[in-house]
Amino acid sequence: MRDQVTNCIKNYFSNPSNAIRSCFVYDLQNVDKSCEELKEHLAPVANLYYAMKANPHTKVLSYLTQKAAISGVDVSSGGELILASEKWSADQLLFTGPGKSPAELELAVNSGIGLIIVESLTEAFRLNQVAQKRLRRQDVLLRINIAKELGGANLLMSGFSSKFGIDESAATNAAKVICQLPNLRFRGIHCYAASGFLRAEDVLAQFAHVLRFAAQLRRTGVPFDTLDLGGGFGIDYTEKEGELDIGSVGKGLAELIKTHGLGDCKIILELGRFVIGNAGVYCSEILDIKISEGKKHLIVAGGINHQRRPCATDSNHKVSIIGMHWEKIWSEQESVRAEVVDIDGPLCLAPDKLAWDVLIDKAEIGDIVIVHRSGAYGASMGATHFISHEPAPELFVPAI
Ligand SMILES: Cc1ncc(COP(=O)(O)O)c(C=O)c1O
Repeated sequence: MRDQVTNCIKNYFSNPSNAIRSCFVYDLQNVDKSCEELKEHLAPVANLYYAMKANPHTKVLSYLTQKAAISGVDVSSGGELILASEKWSADQLLFTGPGKSPAELELAVNSGIGLIIVESLTEAFRLNQVAQKRLRRQDVLLRINIAKELGGANLLMSGFSSKFGIDESAATNAAKVICQLPNLRFRGIHCYAASGFLRAEDVLAQFAHVLRFAAQLRRTGVPFDTLDLGGGFGIDYTEKEGELDIGSVGKGLAELIKTHGLGDCKIILELGRFVIGNAGVYCSEILDIKISEGKKHLIVAGGINHQRRPCATDSNHKVSIIGMHWEKIWSEQESVRAEVVDIDGPLCLAPDKLAWDVLIDKAEIGDIVIVHRSGAYGASMGATHFISHEPAPELFVPAI
């Protein structure tokens, strides 16, 4: 973490008039870094869309409009579509998600959106009706649920009985049906199969499967020109496993496209976590330290209402402490010295934890717990309304 970020955190928490004793801080230098890496290694092979579900903050969206690596945005609701439309033109947007309401489809068609990813034949027929009313021909991709067991990811969406897309075994026929719908234009296939890959060979194994299917689809006579391969690029939340080698992914993808004779297709990737995940930290003040049955619990001001990801995915992020050196509240208060502790939120719910069984060198009441790599699925995924605490402010370094 850079000194500027530490200073921003210390400034925020040394001011007692900041009544919300938690915040997110985003370091824009890390966004620059991930975008540069993507631009160098992947932009030559693929069009990179930002999956705004990872972090829809309006300042993040604005910042990304300036990044050459990012050519569009993946939205997954009418709300995201409205937000993204403030910064991007409609033809730079695509709409994913397994349950789009008729109103959302209307909104998308009316906006002139570039691509809608249809996830079932019912959705394709419904969209066809919407497009007919609007006298538009809507470009679509068909999402497939690939028949492949995937290794190396931490969240799977494909490769088993799934709500996402249409099973690979039924996809060729479904594509042929969609090609016959007069108000849709079948542009190709989409597959977002899993997230959290940290090894290039695992990412490439899923891409290889999808490209093989695409080549086969073409041989059956179905024409298309676009392939959205999803992505699922992970970040190393614990900082112990090593980062995904984007250079190898880019090189491997280029080779696969060549091997399968799909060089004439527009390739799309939808990335959220890789773009913004490393750029954010979640910070929360230690309100209390107590011992229960021999284990210490650090009770902090914010929990899963702000940062739900560790709990939701049952996996710790790296955590650290910033010392604030406040006066003691009473002489016998607990502190931590090289101990394995749990870090618990303030909510009346036992699983409300930021981290568990983590070794902490030194912590006092009033110090700040830092949950690293909280830039993606942090502020946007918190159980914000539960127990009506205030949302955590989101600060930017440098301030924008
Ligand atoms: C369809 C789709 N695209 C893209 C993403 C972004 O994934 P990540 O943030 O892991 O890159 C997701 C995440 O759930 C998704 O469901």
